[in-house]
Amino acid sequence: MEDKRLAIKQDEISAAVSLLKQGKLVAMPTETVYGLAADAKNPVAVKRLYDVKGRPGNHPVIVHLPSSNQLAGWARDIPEVAWCLAEAFWPGPMTLILKKKPDVSDAITGAQDTVGLRVPAHPMAQALLNAYGSALVAPSANRFGHVSPTTAAHVREDLGQDVSLVLDGGECPVGVESTIIDCSQVYSDDQGDIHGKPRGNIRVLRPGMLLPAEIQAVLVRAGYPDILLKDAFQETTSEIRVSGSLKSHYAPTTPLRLYPFGELRNVWQAIGQKEAKNGKLAVLSFEARPDDFRAENGVWLKASADASQYARTLYANLRALDKPGASAILVELPQTHHKERGHEDWRAVLDRLQRASVPREQC
Ligand code: TXA
Ligand code: MG
Repeated sequence: MEDKRLAIKQDEISAAVSLLKQGKLVAMPTETVYGLAADAKNPVAVKRLYDVKGRPGNHPVIVHLPSSNQLAGWARDIPEVAWCLAEAFWPGPMTLILKKKPDVSDAITGAQDTVGLRVPAHPMAQALLNAYGSALVAPSANRFGHVSPTTAAHVREDLGQDVSLVLDGGECPVGVESTIIDCSQVYSDDQGDIHGKPRGNIRVLRPGMLLPAEIQAVLVRAGYPDILLKDAFQETTSEIRVSGSLKSHYAPTTPLRLYPFGELRNVWQAIGQKEAKNGKLAVLSFEARPDDFRAENGVWLKASADASQYARTLYANLRALDKPGASAILVELPQTHHKERGHEDWRAVLDRLQRASVPREQC
């Protein structure tokens, strides 16, 4: 099926390549979300990318590569553990932060000493990167702070004429952005030899659907049980500029409120009906729409109880809920507290929901 789709799109891939060569912007599907791609080595194209996104210049972008063979062209002092992660999870929904080579432009890294790198798995992203033969920077193809796009239509809605071509690869199968793993703080005992016994830690800067347990399993298998895997996405420091670490991000325009699992039906009974008289409500619940919630009350979407399926549909759901002119979006939080593993599965979703619930003006 993929082959057929790619064969059909071969003309489009060629068109995308020639637009990128001219310094234009092309939206490409990845397995996580759609990315807005520009030639990573063309400063004019990169500048236009930041302008179109409305992204502050000090927020770095991820460099997308066709394969890990090109990793050493962008990063230096690559610790062995990073190669192990690359081998285990690329192509796939993982971004590695590594020390950058001196010639990597400050415009890409936000003038930091590190660079974010990823090899996406989506067949269309792979086709484009291989045809292009060189790296593409690709932030999510939405305006800064908005909900990320998971279909070609989302990209067109958000960016309109500002993007030269949108490659349509269908719905993104993962649905939330890649897990960002910082490997820039792994050292060897004798500083000089990074292949020596490593110490330090690797840190998850942004949770995604590649889970800490899977990362830890690779560390143990590869013989690095001493490297600490730390969660850093709750820290907001000035030197780690992960834009997903701004409190408000991935946010719809309508105010979004979170409710504990099981409470939304009561909330609807208690305040919803009164509130709905003044305006419509948009609801994302694990329960089916109650009979007394009618079309004139707004939209009630039933969420999947499976974390992967929930993540896959999260951004499309948030966009749908942001549409009907509701006074608020009410979201029921998943049931996560009783199972440690269950909590892990939901971590990326919880992170995105929490950020979506912070009003934009507070970011
Ligand atoms: O799944 C994804 O990662 C998608 C697809 C298109 O690949 N891309 C994506 O890009 O989410 P963007 O720009 O929306 O988010 C990239 C995140 C930002 O939060 C950025 O700050 C962080 O990666 N990042 C990039 N380089 C970094 C670096 N050197 N140090 C710390 N964070 C970095
Ligand atoms: Mg983004």
